[in-house]
Amino acid sequence: MGLLRVAVFVSGNGSNLQALLDNLTGMVEFVLVLANKPDAYALVRAGKAGVPTAVVRYEDYPHRAAFTRAILDLVTEKKVDLICLAGFNRILDPLLIEAFPLRIMNTHPALLPAFGGEGMFGRRVHEAVLASGAKISGATVHFVTAETDRGPIILQAAVPVLDDDTPETLAGRVLAAEHRLYPEAVRLFAAGRLRVEGNRVRIIPG
Ligand code: GRF
Repeated sequence: MGLLRVAVFVSGNGSNLQALLDNLTGMVEFVLVLANKPDAYALVRAGKAGVPTAVVRYEDYPHRAAFTRAILDLVTEKKVDLICLAGFNRILDPLLIEAFPLRIMNTHPALLPAFGGEGMFGRRVHEAVLASGAKISGATVHFVTAETDRGPIILQAAVPVLDDDTPETLAGRVLAAEHRLYPEAVRLFAAGRLRVEGNRVRIIPG
C-alpha cells in the first residue's frame, strides 16, 4: 500500500497548491496537477515540484459533462485516491463526484454554510462578508458533493474582519488560514482519521 495518490485541480495562482506541496510532499504522492487554464501560474509551481501536469480547457468541450468526462479519464488513468480542488473555478458534473464519493475536497474562503453556494467565489465572497458587517470570517475545507459548498465540513479556521478591511486585505488573511488548513485536512485524510457521519466529519484521535 503506497502513499495516498493526490491530484490537485487549479485555475490560477496556486498558492493553496504550493501550501500542499510544501507541507505534504513525501507524506502523500502528488500524481497530477490539473488546470482548466493553460496560463495558470499553478502549473509553473507544479513543474518546479516535478509534479505531472495536464490542461483541460472547459472551452474545448461541448458541455460540462464532456469536460468532466475528460477529467475523470485522466484521474482514473493516474489511479488518483483523492482530488483536491484548490482555486478551481469550474463546477464539476456529478459524474465525477459519483466516481469519487467523499474523495474530493475543496477549500472555500469563508465559514460555510455562510457566504457560499452558487456564484460565491473569490473576491465576491469577501465583498459579501464586508457588506454584511460580520466581525469574523475564515476558511473552510470540506468534501465536495453535488450541492455546491454544502458537503461535509472537515476543518474551519476563523479570522477577524477589521474595520478598515478591503476585500483584498480580508482575502489575504483568509488565504493564510487556508494555507494552514488544507494541508492539515489532507494529512488527516491520508492518516484515515476522518469519519463522515451524515453531514458531519468526526476526526479520530491520532
Ligand atoms: C482561494 O482563496 C480559494 O479559497 C478560492 O480561490 C483561491 C485560490 O487561490 N477558491 P490559489 O489559486 O490557491 O492561490
